[in-house]
Amino acid sequence: MIDKIKSLETLSRQLEPNPALRSEWNRQVQAYADQFIDRLPDAKGYENMDRVSDWTRNCPIGEEGRDMEELLQILDREVDNVGLNPASGAHLGYIPGGGVFPTALGDYLAAVSNRYAGIYFANPGAVQLENQLIRWMCDMVGYPAESLGNLSSGGSIANLVAITTARDHLGIKPRLVESAVIYLTVQVHHCVHKALRIAGLADAVIRNVPLDHHFRMDAAALRSQVEQDKAAGLRPFLVVASAGTTDTGAMDPLDAIADVAEEHGLWFHVDAAYGGFFILLDELKPLFFRNFEIRQRGHRSAQGSVSFLRTGGGVDQKRAGSIRISLLQGKLHAGRAGHGRRAQSGRPIARADQAFPGPSHVDGAPVVWVGAFPGLPGGKEAIGLIFL
Ligand SMILES: Cc1ncc(COP(=O)(O)O)c(C=O)c1O
Repeated sequence: MIDKIKSLETLSRQLEPNPALRSEWNRQVQAYADQFIDRLPDAKGYENMDRVSDWTRNCPIGEEGRDMEELLQILDREVDNVGLNPASGAHLGYIPGGGVFPTALGDYLAAVSNRYAGIYFANPGAVQLENQLIRWMCDMVGYPAESLGNLSSGGSIANLVAITTARDHLGIKPRLVESAVIYLTVQVHHCVHKALRIAGLADAVIRNVPLDHHFRMDAAALRSQVEQDKAAGLRPFLVVASAGTTDTGAMDPLDAIADVAEEHGLWFHVDAAYGGFFILLDELKPLFFRNFEIRQRGHRSAQGSVSFLRTGGGVDQKRAGSIRISLLQGKLHAGRAGHGRRAQSGRPIARADQAFPGPSHVDGAPVVWVGAFPGLPGGKEAIGLIFL
């Protein structure tokens, strides 16, 4: 047994490069990153669109090692010179954006140390860092001190978390699904429909609320539809609005929708993926802010959620925060994480305590590294732009 462990240890040591090799790899990777960034001013927005080489088709993953130089050449040829280049100034057609260098460094360090941020006792510093980030996001939208949130892997999961929270908060049990009504528009991102299916709500009544001529939800039509549905004995429970639709960037009238939601006890979810961080820009704040402020004006019954998405991390391209006023958190998503339950008791809540833990290393780190910009002008406005 001991001999077996020793031989496995020798094998696994191959995954641990010695200091000389590590610095050589660091040098090569950094040189690659530098040349990628340096050639951006001339980079096309879309290149070699149909090029799929034999190499990528067969993707030979084997047990023979390749040296770093060859791997970087493959990356350059097969990935970084094919298809959309979101980092190029010529790229305007689709939502994904380019990377932000300091966040890539944050991602790199978080991946190197790989500290576990899922539960508090495992790494209080990492959890506090993430919790501070979520607090900042909650404050940004005017959510109260008891609001909660979590970082997930992207907008789809953030929406799923919010929809599941709405379902559980309003007690939509399987036997009630067929009479439950959900309001959205044809402009919601398709992941909302996926999330509804995964959340067991495929058989609910889905109302596509009419749009105005700017592709925004017509709040008056929403109100009359909710009233009709209630009169027909149905159970309206959720309205999903978009704070920046994917196709046109249209902002649904959040204030007017929030009024209907409050009046009729609906959960109000705002999918603010990409568009949400425009709230950091003073000239755009009015598009959002009164809606979120509603919750500070003392409407304690307010219930809702907002999901954000940012791009620009280094290793993982996107991450999302889903934040919500979650009045019944203890009941949702099984409460505390199973592992280490005793060690955690009485300690601050962390990612694995709620919803899906998502990637376990420190997701907050890339954001904190934005602070690495020397003398970054404009404070939060600049951060708002960086998030975009
Ligand atoms: C408005 C909106 N919501 C949700 C998503 C889904 O995000 P993800 O691709 O990270 O799952 C997108 C992606 O473009 C989006 O634009």
